Amino acid sequence: MKIFLDTSDVNIIRKYCETGLIDGVTTNPTLMKQVGRNPVEVVSEISSLFNSDASISVEVVADSAKDMIIQAKQYHSINKNVTIKVPCTYEGLKACKKLSNRDIKVNVTLIFSFNQSILAAKAGATYISPFIGRCEDNDINGIDLISSIRKVFNLNNISTKILAASIRNIDHISESFKAGADIVTIPPKVFEEMYKHSLTDQGLEQFNKDWKELNK
Ligand code: E4P
Repeated sequence: MKIFLDTSDVNIIRKYCETGLIDGVTTNPTLMKQVGRNPVEVVSEISSLFNSDASISVEVVADSAKDMIIQAKQYHSINKNVTIKVPCTYEGLKACKKLSNRDIKVNVTLIFSFNQSILAAKAGATYISPFIGRCEDNDINGIDLISSIRKVFNLNNISTKILAASIRNIDHISESFKAGADIVTIPPKVFEEMYKHSLTDQGLEQFNKDWKELNK
């Protein structure tokens, strides 16, 4: 059960890494645009915060598998913990197969159907990313999708990891894990909601008050 952060903000990643609870990071072109910096520099800074077991997903943006592979090699040369994200398209799957054959980890992203996940696994993907929030926006049950993928991956001993993405709330996290996701990638705002509970705050207030009175 792993937790990734879904952001390109290096300062936020550095802060949450201090918890020791973060196993990796996912970025995408939109998240890169939000920070507005050179993606190679951003990837270099993020990847240096983690050891070689971590996974830092970086998306390639190109029309052909050939160009995706050129970009992938550049990102992968930054750090061995960089995972290449490709879209679940014809060219993306071709690139996935070639990169996987060269032992470069690939995350096939923008997964919305069971059939896409089969092809991505066949292409050697290390990770597949079903987009739970966007599924929901389009009346697709993303949690059922994860359950089906889990079942068939187990039946066929497929080692591709299910990385639940497009997480909008804490229920998406718990439901994804219950459905069999290996990893959930979480926006920092939602990560904050994971540990907060009003009863924890109330209980702590009382404990602090009692402790002060005892030590008067
Ligand atoms: C995952 O890898 C993506 O970066 C991300 O989860 C997309 O989420 P969104 O649907 O909120 O944009």
